[in-house]
Amino acid sequence: MKKTSIFTLIAFVLLSFNSFGQEAWKAPESATSLINPISAKKAKASAKRGAITFNKFCIVCHGSKGAGDGPGGKSLTPKPANLTSLRVQDQKGGEIFWKISNGKGPMIKWGPIIKESDRWDLVNYIRTLKN
Ligand code: HEC
Repeated sequence: MKKTSIFTLIAFVLLSFNSFGQEAWKAPESATSLINPISAKKAKASAKRGAITFNKFCIVCHGSKGAGDGPGGKSLTPKPANLTSLRVQDQKGGEIFWKISNGKGPMIKWGPIIKESDRWDLVNYIRTLKN
């Protein structure tokens, strides 16, 4: 094997490991079919309620604008997600709802803590954070 191809191989292996480590959190397929029970007409009022819940439970890690820069997230690995990002905003409401409900690592499993309708209010609020 030529020296250059060995380097290419090593670089490839290192890059792969790196992206495995940072693999984006994916909700299961079934989550995509969860339907937001709050009608579009009521989404604005729902988001307003969601903001109150967000400021109570989420702001410490995700930050006041949801950018993932709250003081409580500074020492966490992985860092709290930037909820304004396309990566999050491109997901279905059901996926965001599922992640809030089930948690992962330092992201708390909110299902047993925050009642279902309040979690949908959070999804509607997160939609308003899109930049
Ligand atoms: C203790 C810190 C902490 C708190 C409090 C917290 N989160 Fe998180 N959150 C995280 C971390 C860390 C991640 C990234 C988890 C990962 O990717 O493995 C995350 C990820 C998420 C995601 C997934 C984004 C994605 O698709 O990758 C959503 C949605 C979310 N949080 C919403 C919330 C909501 C809503 C609340 C409040 C009810 C909340 N979080 C409270 C730390 C926190």
